[in-house]
Amino acid sequence: MTVRIPLAAPDITKAEIDAATAVLRTSQLSLGPELEAFEAALAKYHGVDHAVAVSSGTAGLHLALLVLGVGEGDEVILPSFAFIAVANVVLQVRATPVFVDIEPVTLNLDPALVEQAITPQTRAILVVHTFGVPADMDAFAEIARRHRVRIIEDACEALGAQFGDSPSTRRAGSFGDLAVFGFYPNKQITTGEGGAVLCRNPAHARRLRSLRNQGRNPDRMCMGADARGCREASGWLEHIEPGYNYRLAELACALGRVQLSRLERILALRDAVAGRYDALLANVPGLEPPPRELPRRVISWFVYAVRLPIGSSRERVQSELALQGIATGCYFSPIHLQPAWRGHASAARPLPVTQAVAPRMLALPFFNRMTANQQQEVADALKQAVSLPR
Ligand SMILES: Cc1ncc(COP(=O)(O)O)c(C=O)c1O
Repeated sequence: MTVRIPLAAPDITKAEIDAATAVLRTSQLSLGPELEAFEAALAKYHGVDHAVAVSSGTAGLHLALLVLGVGEGDEVILPSFAFIAVANVVLQVRATPVFVDIEPVTLNLDPALVEQAITPQTRAILVVHTFGVPADMDAFAEIARRHRVRIIEDACEALGAQFGDSPSTRRAGSFGDLAVFGFYPNKQITTGEGGAVLCRNPAHARRLRSLRNQGRNPDRMCMGADARGCREASGWLEHIEPGYNYRLAELACALGRVQLSRLERILALRDAVAGRYDALLANVPGLEPPPRELPRRVISWFVYAVRLPIGSSRERVQSELALQGIATGCYFSPIHLQPAWRGHASAARPLPVTQAVAPRMLALPFFNRMTANQQQEVADALKQAVSLPR
């Protein structure tokens, strides 16, 4: 069956197409003015000093760990109810992932359990703002201060989310030592593939710029409009440390810059889609919609993931919807239960909330331009599928 209603869909307007086309009319396809403009806009939006664009959210997480010096013998606390990249990068720097359980409502790391899991080896807490619901950053900041550990925010799913008491709320991504965003096409804004790391410390920013660019000396890199003319004369073939190619191309940056400029509208569209689902799915016996109003939080809708009635077969519901061309997603399969992690020492700790919640989660089609008719179709199909005899 072909997919008629996809799980996610990018929202590309003429403005993005024009910006990308304009890049193609130049001869500067990397490390140019679009990179500078996108980074400056990201930093300004979050009220932080530095934004460093990279080739993916995963690359950003990897660099964030490296910049904090996390390595062999260190422990990093993180959720298992998350996208697998968060754990892979911890292994890639040879540190030990310590999975901690989540709160049942926000689905974010439970601060009390995080504090219990801290040991002398703990170097960092990787706080994921799951599904765009901001985590309790006051609690994590306090834990970090008390135990002298670092905070990396994984805000890949949470561009535009806010936490704190009004009027001094702050955006997700402006709290941690470093914060990471991802711009895969299912995200609030997309660059195709891409990501960014935000930070306040200039030394961190400098190191990020070096590591993403093969360890080149960022002070010897011409950037922006000047880059092409002076590249040969600058330190292009001078490397001050081993690095990576985690650069983000100009085309992607142009796309990101325009998408970011439309963010308020995008967030409003997504909020409206979530509101319509809430209304359509109210009163389905046993079905739990995602939280909508949470104290001290402004949600940035990434996915609309419901909890199916206890005892209903998610596999069956999914295949009933698939038969009607409606895509759904099992967000998330706990990392510690994934085949790749079987037998791994980090996967041994039981996580009762994660294990109870995850099998019930079903992400429904969710994208900016979703029509009321499409949502009605999804709601009707879902209601019918959950009411089938077990
Ligand atoms: C919470 C979280 N972290 C990290 C990533 C990785 O981002 P990317 O796919 O851009 O590497 C994702 C992507 O889905 C994510 O949702």
